[in-house]
Amino acid sequence: MLDNQCTIFVCHGTGCVSGKSVEIRLALEKEVGELGLDNVKVDFTGCHGFCEQGPLVVVEPEGIFYTRVSVEDVPEIARSHLRDGQPVERLFYRDPVSRQAVPYYKDINFYRKQHRLILRNCGHINPERIEDYIDMDGYQSLRKVLFEMTPEQVIDEVKRSRLRGRGGAGFPTGRKWEFCRRTPGTVKYLICNADEGDPGAFMDRSIMEADPHTVIEGMAIAAYAIGATEGYIYIRAEYPLAVKRLRIALKQAGEKGFLGESILGSGFSFNVHVKEGAGAFVCGEETALMASIEGKRGMPRPRPPFPAQSGLWGKPTNINNVKTLASIPVVIARGADWYVSIGSGKSGGTAVFALTGKIANSGLVEVPMGMSLQEIIYGIGGGVPNGKRLKAVQTGGPSGGCLPANQLNLPVDYEELTEAGSIMGSGGMVVMDEDTCVVDIAKFFLSFTQVESCGKCVPCRLGTKQMLDILEDITNGRGKLEDIDLLEDLAKDVVAGSLCALGGTAPNPVLTTIRYFRDEYEEHIKRHYCRAAVCKGLVTAPCSHLCPAGIDVPRHIRFITEGKFGEAVAVIREKIPFPLVCGYVCLHFCETRCRRGELDETIGIRVLHRVAVEHDTGLWKQNSKVAPATGKRVAIIGSGPAGLTAAYYLAKLGHSVTVFEALPEPGGMMRFGIPDYRLPKDILRAEIEEIEGVGVEIKTNTRVDSPESLFDQGYNAIFLAVGAHQAIRLGVEGEDSPRVKGGISFLRDVSLGKEVELGNRVAIIGGGNAAIDSARTALRLGAEEVTIIYRRTRAEMPASPEEIEGALVEGVNIHFLAAPSSIISQNGELQLECIRMKLGAVDASGRQRPEPIKGSEFTMGFDTIIAAIGQRPQVPASFGLPTGRGNTIQVDPDTLATGKEGIFAGGDAVSGPATVIEAIAAGRQAAISIDKYLGGKGIIDETLAPPEGEVAPVEEVEEEKRRPPIPTLPLEQRLSSFANVELGLSEGAAIEEANRCLKCDLEEKE
Ligand SMILES: Cc1cc2nc3c(=O)[nH]c(=O)nc-3n(C[C@H](O)[C@H](O)[C@H](O)COP(=O)(O)OP(=O)(O)OC[C@H]3O[C@@H](n4cnc5c(N)ncnc54)[C@H](O)[C@@H]3O)c2cc1C
Ligand SMILES: Cc1cc2nc3c(=O)[nH]c(=O)nc-3n(C[C@H](O)[C@H](O)[C@H](O)COP(=O)(O)O)c2cc1C
Ligand code: SF4
Ligand code: SF4
Ligand code: FES
Repeated sequence: MLDNQCTIFVCHGTGCVSGKSVEIRLALEKEVGELGLDNVKVDFTGCHGFCEQGPLVVVEPEGIFYTRVSVEDVPEIARSHLRDGQPVERLFYRDPVSRQAVPYYKDINFYRKQHRLILRNCGHINPERIEDYIDMDGYQSLRKVLFEMTPEQVIDEVKRSRLRGRGGAGFPTGRKWEFCRRTPGTVKYLICNADEGDPGAFMDRSIMEADPHTVIEGMAIAAYAIGATEGYIYIRAEYPLAVKRLRIALKQAGEKGFLGESILGSGFSFNVHVKEGAGAFVCGEETALMASIEGKRGMPRPRPPFPAQSGLWGKPTNINNVKTLASIPVVIARGADWYVSIGSGKSGGTAVFALTGKIANSGLVEVPMGMSLQEIIYGIGGGVPNGKRLKAVQTGGPSGGCLPANQLNLPVDYEELTEAGSIMGSGGMVVMDEDTCVVDIAKFFLSFTQVESCGKCVPCRLGTKQMLDILEDITNGRGKLEDIDLLEDLAKDVVAGSLCALGGTAPNPVLTTIRYFRDEYEEHIKRHYCRAAVCKGLVTAPCSHLCPAGIDVPRHIRFITEGKFGEAVAVIREKIPFPLVCGYVCLHFCETRCRRGELDETIGIRVLHRVAVEHDTGLWKQNSKVAPATGKRVAIIGSGPAGLTAAYYLAKLGHSVTVFEALPEPGGMMRFGIPDYRLPKDILRAEIEEIEGVGVEIKTNTRVDSPESLFDQGYNAIFLAVGAHQAIRLGVEGEDSPRVKGGISFLRDVSLGKEVELGNRVAIIGGGNAAIDSARTALRLGAEEVTIIYRRTRAEMPASPEEIEGALVEGVNIHFLAAPSSIISQNGELQLECIRMKLGAVDASGRQRPEPIKGSEFTMGFDTIIAAIGQRPQVPASFGLPTGRGNTIQVDPDTLATGKEGIFAGGDAVSGPATVIEAIAAGRQAAISIDKYLGGKGIIDETLAPPEGEVAPVEEVEEEKRRPPIPTLPLEQRLSSFANVELGLSEGAAIEEANRCLKCDLEEKE
């Protein structure tokens, strides 16, 4: 039995109550009674702000924190913990980053990094018992103002505290009180705005449910300051628990003399009424709110007169938000100087946010004003879950703005957010990851404000409707480029012509998404492409939408379900000439948003390609045509996937195509970068032979230094597909040692069959596929100890997860969060000095930037160091082409035309290091543009597969079914050769896997 008295608190906030926390408390009471645990008291609290982990149970004073408790867990908690003193570990909170169990409330990052002033009592007291509040020094501030301060002194204190209204506009509270105090009149009102209409926001509700007396005390102090005798709490009727607790608290406060006639004998009288609203968003606006209390339709009216001059029933009125009022007892108790020291700049104190969306720890967080978005999202929220990248964060509720990842260092306060195009609002903070479409999000929020517009102002009523119609067009493929400017113009009119802040802020989501994500609007309009694959009007099936080459994946898969592999291959070949290469090494963008993943696991599309090609019947050749000769000649420089794809389609269109390749064999990085154990050479060779089969001539060992000279040789157009082959240097002392190799040249030498001397201990610097490939290749060459040094963590590693796993299984060590600082050659070995890193602010890529930890240097000895931190295109100056970021060739993104007549460029040379399928897509685009340039229509798509029969959509998925594991070569056979590691699937397993597909294309067509 626990030695001392303890209380087990069960959360009775709305979230936990809906998770059956009342039943949990009753079961605990019964169990504790039956076990005779006289030292244990069972009680309840209001919301802890961590509802996502609820129902919550906390044992005090120990502070043991149980999450996701159910009635079934009660006997174990009571016996193991309350009786035997052994807390139940399985119910502890697990840190989303470290996966460690955290037993104590105070150690949970979500709470540890907050500064709870407004929420100070939430989760710690019984909200239905005034004594609990009094025990926490409740009503002391009211006593202090009534007996030690004049109203003017109270106002002065609040002014000096720099407390600003937490309802959204951020108006200085002390000044607002002063206006009201100075307005003559014997009857004045004080209103607590508890409407909280923002979808997803629940700060105000939680406070009222968990600590109603703090709001009442704040109201009484405000009323004393302005000289009001009547107060209203305007609360939406959808908050029944908050209403109930407020009524209980008001009754108890009256009984104890904190409300009513001559409070505590001071001579000051104040009464509070609860007014339940019907839940219209606009009724949160102060003038609409007063109209609603007066029994009129809730519509804003022009200001002036301001409520302080003429408010409720024409009397001077002060309106404050719940959080503003809940801050007041703290300001008075701790003093303005202390309070102001917590905040930043023009804002004192703390702000409460409802942190929601794609965040590991969602819930209510209270932080000092001026804390950065980064600290809130990563330090408290635990970052974005499931290894996804942060894309944007929306602050300020439905009319707030979406800020991109590179704004995360922004300190959160009124001015900074406004400057960035957003607002503080009343504290909504929605985190979005890469699966979010910003155009869709803008449409979502605007549709909310549009529906909630009271309709009084024409620009608000009709302007937002017009903006919404445009967004509908854009997300349905009917958008025009001019629409983007039109949206901005309309937004300005709506802002300028609206009476209240609903219209004044409604365009914010649209304006900020255009400001920060204009390229995504353009993609929707120009390419009908939604990179998150969510805009239903553009996306038939997410898989084919996200395949850069646009392979009709669902049709491909359906043929596999019928065992028609030849037909399945024909579907792939309609778009790409490298089906088997892709079946081996494609980075399968198609799988990233596969809808089956929402049920159990995404479809293994890449491996299905492989099985199909391995069972190909060659059917595709029947319909594959080569057009008659056009007499036009095209030169292609570079025989990687981009160059060869363009060559293939241009040859099929009848042009005479020659590919010039500097290296001894064609294939580019597919041949000289990707090692054999991932992509066997004969597979690549066979697909290149098919390309040659349509008439493409490939001249190897032929470097081209001057594209223009090819025009002199009679070529009519040129495609530069030279890839990205120049290794990026480490930039550290000692890297010129002959034992320090570049990853790309190392892999190329191995591919060329050159003798490569490594020694036993090899270090690889980098975290991408080239680093992993170098490491696994080094092992196969006999290195005994291979260590990768990567500056971020595994979650940020750009290499594919399967490759990282493969490397680890094969025995590669990975040092995360370390970077090289110098290399010294000493006694025949290399001393690699590294420095440890920590993750700091988020950079433009949405990942946390690694920062060196001073004094953390350490040294390791190696025989060889391979630098594989990245590549960039090697564009000879003799090309005479302007290059951009990362030395990439600059082109028109739609046509791939360079500035030079007849010269086009694509693939890694333009995008920077990317993937095979993206290079193939660039090759397709180049073929289209070059054919048009040569007078053709640029039509390269062909129908190679026969029509499908009648296909029934998937009605219902009955059972969870995961992907079949892909067998791999046994570990002991791997390191002695470059034999292919991934062995593919059997025919039967592939058919079974294909049968999991949900046929999303049919669903959308219906
Ligand atoms: C180690 C490594 C592993 C990779 N793994 C994968 C993977 O698993 N999956 C995936 O999808 N992608 C992978 N990639 C990326 C992928 O290989 C490339 O994105 C893709 O090959 C780029 O195609 P490209 O046609 O633009 O250029 P490249 O494939 O680089 O081809 C360019 C060709 O141009 C030639 N060339 C250059 N200059 C001249 C000149 N002046 N004259 C004549 N010829 C010239 C080069 O020799 C080269 O053959 C990997 C890359 C590397 C480096
Ligand atoms: C459409 C609209 C909805 C609003 N909703 C709320 C609300 O739910 N709660 C709130 O406190 N303020 C809301 N406001 C702001 C109020 O008009 C007012 O500024 C606020 O209650 C003043 O209190 P404060 O000074 O403590 O922030 C809303 C404003 C608009 C324009
Ligand atoms: S080529 Fe790659 S991205 Fe396209 S469907 Fe196949 S696996 Fe997916
Ligand atoms: S379930 Fe099938 S059709 Fe739907 S996204 Fe996945 S692979 Fe494509
Ligand atoms: S309702 Fe229990 S934590 Fe919010």
